[in-house]
Amino acid sequence: MGSVIMGTGVSVPDNVVTNHDLAQIMDTSDDWITSRTGVKERRFVDPGVGASDLAIDAAARAIEDAGLEPSEVDMLVTATMTPDYIAPGIAGLVQAGLGLNHVAAMDLRQQCSGFLYGLDLADAYLSTGRAGHVVVVGAEVHAGFLPWSRASWDRVLGDDSVELPADDYTRNTEHRAWSVLFGDGAGAMVLSAGDSPSTGVLGSSLHTDGESFELILVPGVGFKERPWVSSDQLTEDGHLPVMDGGGLYRRAVRLMPEAALEVLEQTGLTLDEVDLVVAHQANDRILEGVRKSFGMGFEKVPSNIAGYGNTTAGTLPILYDELRKAGRVARGTVVCFAAFGAGAHYGAVLYREP
Ligand SMILES: CC(C)(COP(=O)(O)OP(=O)(O)OC[C@H]1O[C@@H](n2cnc3c(N)ncnc32)[C@H](O)[C@@H]1OP(=O)(O)O)[C@@H](O)C(=O)NCCC(=O)NCCS
Repeated sequence: MGSVIMGTGVSVPDNVVTNHDLAQIMDTSDDWITSRTGVKERRFVDPGVGASDLAIDAAARAIEDAGLEPSEVDMLVTATMTPDYIAPGIAGLVQAGLGLNHVAAMDLRQQCSGFLYGLDLADAYLSTGRAGHVVVVGAEVHAGFLPWSRASWDRVLGDDSVELPADDYTRNTEHRAWSVLFGDGAGAMVLSAGDSPSTGVLGSSLHTDGESFELILVPGVGFKERPWVSSDQLTEDGHLPVMDGGGLYRRAVRLMPEAALEVLEQTGLTLDEVDLVVAHQANDRILEGVRKSFGMGFEKVPSNIAGYGNTTAGTLPILYDELRKAGRVARGTVVCFAAFGAGAHYGAVLYREP
């Protein structure tokens, strides 16, 4: 029986950073970022705010939206690539923060596909009767990843009186290709056991292209190193992401539609029957590729990347929450969730609103 999305919730921080703000601290422009990615602005948390904080806020809203009490939740799945601590993950913090009972709480490390994998995992537990209500939350605070100095942060957050050292500008420019893409935010869903095989989660098609592992990764500060973190690694920027943007773009445009067609075939539905494709928001040009490959327009493959950038595990639930609240998810609406990201994990989940 297909699991049903009973509630959704979002938490995004207040600090808005526009492309024009970024152009003050690196060699970039609103025009370059907008035309290459579709991003106009993104949001960042204050120092000291973790992915767990956003996750708790988003999940609490989703539980309330579902009309449940925290004590009724049977399982929690958290997805993040920016946890508060290297170990353990954020699941325990979120579970305690929500006041859930000692239910199973687990972390997924599937980056941009983290939420999609979480949906499928929740459905597996619900459809086999091992849980009645599952909370899935994707949350990211990329702010800590960014290689910006205190002065850079002051400038992007609007303090024009701060002088930006020339070295800071050079360093920020070195990392501009990936640093302009990301933003912070969290989204959550409550899924509950369904009572019909023709509504709720209809099927899924999850994949991992391990050969593309190196397209985006953080090369240093890992347990292959001894010690796992050293000043040498930090000097060499081993703690910052390395990205092959073109390689990711080409695979995302091909593999998300492939996975979507696979799940359609599996469930016996056609592309014409899909009302909404809620796809990972990494780059609006990738979404344009998905639109082209499906012969669909913006209405069916919507984007909110202009306002948030790429919030990694947060994009699918944030966009879905917006669509739901805008009245775009009526009874019978067929939604195809699709994602592609680091790992390289990708896939699609098909859903029909009861
Ligand atoms: C990163 C991405 C926007 C780059 O777009 P692109 O059109 O491929 O641009 P290129 O990498 O070819 O760079 C073109 C030029 O712009 C420059 N450039 C890169 N970032 C820039 C920025 N923020 N501002 C201005 N110029 C920039 C490059 O240095 C390059 O200059 P050169 O031609 O003098 O060498 C695009 O490849 C992308 O979004 N890929 C997917 C990334 C992704 O999904 N990441 C998340 C992983 S899940």
